[in-house]
Amino acid sequence: MNDMTKVPQGHDAATGDSITARLAAQYVEPEPGSRHLQRFDELRTVLRNEGTRQGGASESPTEKQDPTLASIFFLHGEAHKRRRGAIIGLFTPKAIATRHMPNINQAADELIAAFRRKGRTRLDDMSFMLTSTVVAEIIGLSERPLRPMMRRIERANGTPDVWRGGIRKLLAPLKSRFFGLSFFIRDVKPAIAARRRQRQDDLISKLLDEGRSDLEIFVECTTFGLAGMGTTREFIVVAALHLFECDALRRQFLDGDDNEKMEVLKEILRLEPQASMIYRSASEAIEDVGGESIRAGERVSLGIRAANLDEAIVGPEPEKIDPDRARKMKNNGAWMSFGDGAHFCPGWQVALTETRVLLDRLFRVPGLRLTRYPDMEWTPPMLQSYQFVNAVIECDRA
Ligand code: HEM
Repeated sequence: MNDMTKVPQGHDAATGDSITARLAAQYVEPEPGSRHLQRFDELRTVLRNEGTRQGGASESPTEKQDPTLASIFFLHGEAHKRRRGAIIGLFTPKAIATRHMPNINQAADELIAAFRRKGRTRLDDMSFMLTSTVVAEIIGLSERPLRPMMRRIERANGTPDVWRGGIRKLLAPLKSRFFGLSFFIRDVKPAIAARRRQRQDDLISKLLDEGRSDLEIFVECTTFGLAGMGTTREFIVVAALHLFECDALRRQFLDGDDNEKMEVLKEILRLEPQASMIYRSASEAIEDVGGESIRAGERVSLGIRAANLDEAIVGPEPEKIDPDRARKMKNNGAWMSFGDGAHFCPGWQVALTETRVLLDRLFRVPGLRLTRYPDMEWTPPMLQSYQFVNAVIECDRA
């Protein structure tokens, strides 16, 4: 076992084992005017109801301009089923084993080798590179230079200036459009052209088979890029922080087989869900949600973080990490971390697999230590998530 540097605690007795709970308590707020639900069974009823619509704090800007441009995230009913049907083959256990694993292994090996040569790196950068590589390959953008492309995707969704004041805030929408246009022209268009000539096993090819336009494909590339990269990147860092902090958990992770490692990761994610709150609006009344009805047209804020702590479902001492919890409670351990119902995260197993592979290699590196505890930030609005910046790790040089 490596001799880990003592890590400053990111949590305290009041927040249990969660590192991000204190920050979440400060920032996670239900949308004003919405009905706030927090019990696990209430969330499940709403998310599995076919009459609910996606209703985030910021609804799809593209959908407002042209409904045919809605991404999978904002589609519903038959159109959503068709889109899921077209892409789900990219996320099956078979696709993960045969298609994504070689890519994940290779990317993780290269990142660990580079770290060992230098003896120092930023874990948040390492996780950014791994998750970007994996998601670019799934989308069909792997020929593009990775780092600038992923930055373009992120900035197209909102530049950090949105949260600043003055002129920078005013100019933020223009900047986002500029990055969006640049992602479309520099990355998406050439990839579409290549796949028009020869299809591959990726998202762009599947959407071309569906007869989607370039603009529709661009919207979906942005959605999958953001959904697949940002979430997993942050989860890898927070999972690593837990393994640095707790010797017993780290030992359980390293000594366990693949399934046992996954149980450790899912249990960490239960306490550190990347999406703290998701939103729906009811297109028709929903009966018996925790004994009450939701009116047609009513908006609901669904507290994933709170639902994952619902003792009635997750069992005793919900604020503590217990990798055996899912087995004891006869649950698959995903709880509410990846949502539920029609929009349940298609990439959940990809996310857990890449996290498992990277952390399994990382925590075997001789002399591994965390030398700078990252700054924790909060990124509203949409999914209300945490972000870690500047997590410096060091090791003995190879
Ligand atoms: C730890 C990592 C991840 C977490 C915590 C996560 C979480 C979630 C959650 C909570 C939802 C449901 C949102 C809602 O119902 O409003 C969702 C949906 C989605 N996720 Fe993930 N996700 C992760 C990784 C990924 C990856 C790796 C991909 C793809 C490569 C991905 C693609 C998507 C897509 C496309 C949707 C929308 C699906 C639909 O609307 O039908 N996610 N994710």
